[in-house]
Amino acid sequence: MQIKELFSRQQIEDRVKEIAGVINEDYKDKKEICIISVLTGSVFFTADLLREIKIPCNLNFLKAKSYQGMCSTGNVNISYGDDIEIEGKDVLLIEDIIDTGITLCALKKYYSTMNPASFKICTFLNKTCRRVENVVPDYEGYEIDDKFVVGYGMDVDGKLRELPYIGYIED
Ligand code: IMP
Ligand code: MG
Repeated sequence: MQIKELFSRQQIEDRVKEIAGVINEDYKDKKEICIISVLTGSVFFTADLLREIKIPCNLNFLKAKSYQGMCSTGNVNISYGDDIEIEGKDVLLIEDIIDTGITLCALKKYYSTMNPASFKICTFLNKTCRRVENVVPDYEGYEIDDKFVVGYGMDVDGKLRELPYIGYIED
């Protein structure tokens, strides 16, 4: 298994700052952003992004799992944080990568019944070519081809999350 670099640590850092800049502008009149970060892959992106956001953030996590190895199972197992109160709040959901869109479609459906003031999606990577469900992020770092990526939080069977860059697996 060989890993080829797709985005360097510097490229990631620069792009995170750019996304945060747009979010800061879009939310400048809001008192607080209710962040929901989708574990586990989004932890690195969430931590970096939030430190660049100037609006106060209320940070929440939920856990979703749909992948085994390098394949989407097509089913998503979600452990909702029971204590996440979103009614009347400006919610920003943070993902590491959108692939089939199945995870986000399920999350959007779940949260849409809870009357948030607004609901937006921010993902670092977007694999539009693999989409099964129609999910369009409001903020994205990079659009990528159909490659399996690791690093910057993203894993293959729980491994390689700690890589500081984003690479793709070439076999
Ligand atoms: P989706 O439900 O198919 O959109 O997949 C969402 C989740 O699958 C992402 O949040 C990731 O955790 C995981 N995933 C999708 N593609 C990749 C990849 O290329 N590398 C690592 N994880 C991935
Ligand atoms: Mg994820």
